[in-house]
Amino acid sequence: MKRSAWAWVVAASVALAALPFVLRLDGRAHGDSLQFLGRFHPTLLHLPIGLIVLVPVLEIAGAKRAALREAADFVLRVALVLALPTFALGYMLAYGAGDAGGTVTRHVWGAVVLCIGLMLCIVVRPAWVAGEKKMVYPASLSVSLLALLWTGHQGGSITHGSGYLTQYAPRPLRMLIPGASAEDAGGNSFYALHIHPTLDAKCVSCHGSGSAKAGLRLDTYDDLMKGGKDGTVVVAGKPEASMLLARVTLQPGDPHFMPAEGRTPLTSEEIGWIRAWIGAGASATATSVPGVKIANVEAEPPPQPVGDYSALVPEIAQMQHGLGAKLVPVSAKASDGMILRTVDVSSSFGDAQLAEFKKFAPYIVEAELGRTAVTDASFDTLKTFTHLRALHLEGTAVTGSGLSKLSSLTQLRYLNLSGTKVTAQSVEALKKMPQLRHVYLFNTAAEGDGTTARSTP
Ligand code: HEC
Repeated sequence: MKRSAWAWVVAASVALAALPFVLRLDGRAHGDSLQFLGRFHPTLLHLPIGLIVLVPVLEIAGAKRAALREAADFVLRVALVLALPTFALGYMLAYGAGDAGGTVTRHVWGAVVLCIGLMLCIVVRPAWVAGEKKMVYPASLSVSLLALLWTGHQGGSITHGSGYLTQYAPRPLRMLIPGASAEDAGGNSFYALHIHPTLDAKCVSCHGSGSAKAGLRLDTYDDLMKGGKDGTVVVAGKPEASMLLARVTLQPGDPHFMPAEGRTPLTSEEIGWIRAWIGAGASATATSVPGVKIANVEAEPPPQPVGDYSALVPEIAQMQHGLGAKLVPVSAKASDGMILRTVDVSSSFGDAQLAEFKKFAPYIVEAELGRTAVTDASFDTLKTFTHLRALHLEGTAVTGSGLSKLSSLTQLRYLNLSGTKVTAQSVEALKKMPQLRHVYLFNTAAEGDGTTARSTP
């Protein structure tokens, strides 16, 4: 019995390890039906992962409760029974889609080691339970768990891009993780701050070290400039002649539209960056690109906390009762401020009603005045809302005269003037407010004016 179990393990291990040599992952695609099945790999894989992680938990808890230790053996076997088809589906996915490259190779070999490790665990465990060969099973299990961690990480890099886990890590942490700060390599250049992160988030899963569709890698500047199987994709100074831009600006239904396969498309802001950057010469080091004015998000100061308004709460409640409009706390923290809401009373809420809120002005961070009866006269009130971050004036009668009064609101980031009577001339004042990052002028005479370029260049 024992000997035949070993024979099985050896035979299966040889078969697994031989697979990558027999069915080579050379980057050629091999058919859609393989991919159809293969795409169940990302769904199925969570089952064996969960079970494998459960095994050491059961073994440790089993020191006290024998039933759990017995369950460990069962869980281990089920994990293997699920891991093998997961492996097979993953291989079909890569083979079918023509995925290749370093990350894919590491992922495959990690999985081979994991499957062999699980088989070993099953055959050496009885001896461990019997109190013989005390280290062999724990060692096999540890190797399997490490292989699981490593394989999972490689797999994550294939689907999400290598920077996925570290992209939003706090800066000091990112500095410590090797490779994670790759995007900082170019320092403060426009490429490093805007182009690289965009391509990294939306393209590198298919055009990176893990897989280079069409021979194109977009994960480093040099690779981007080298281009793909059809030649260069960036023609410096000529955005309209650059395939990189062409592929992301096709109609979304076009078979050549990028990112392929329905992945999250680039935003118009990101497309604007790419167009402007190529137009300005596609430099790796230039820190600014004419025509694009964007504050470095990381350098943007966090919003100023507002003062504590808790003492005013009874007064606020009383006043809202009279006016109908509401002051709603942003969060349980008073320093996050309050939102002025008018939705239920909009038509009867005008300049006089807004003026009543002056008393609470420094605690209001957002004013939802869309479709109310406020007019330009309210800019005098609004300029006292010193902590205002967002202002909704869409659908009101404001013409924009007096907009310049808002220029003292250093915290204001969002201003919606869609559907108002503002003119190209009256919104001129906004150009002197660099802190404003999102200005909406849809359905106004000023639509298409340069100021909108801040949110959609
Ligand atoms: C889901 C995988 C996938 C994603 C994500 C993806 N691509 Fe592609 N890309 C492909 C495939 C497959 C091809 C080859 C088929 C084709 O040319 O349409 C390709 C081809 C290209 C080509 C043509 C290269 C050449 O030399 O022929 C460009 C340019 C390109 N992609 C740019 C991008 C950009 C930019 C992004 C991110 C916005 C992106 N791709 C995201 C799969 C992807």
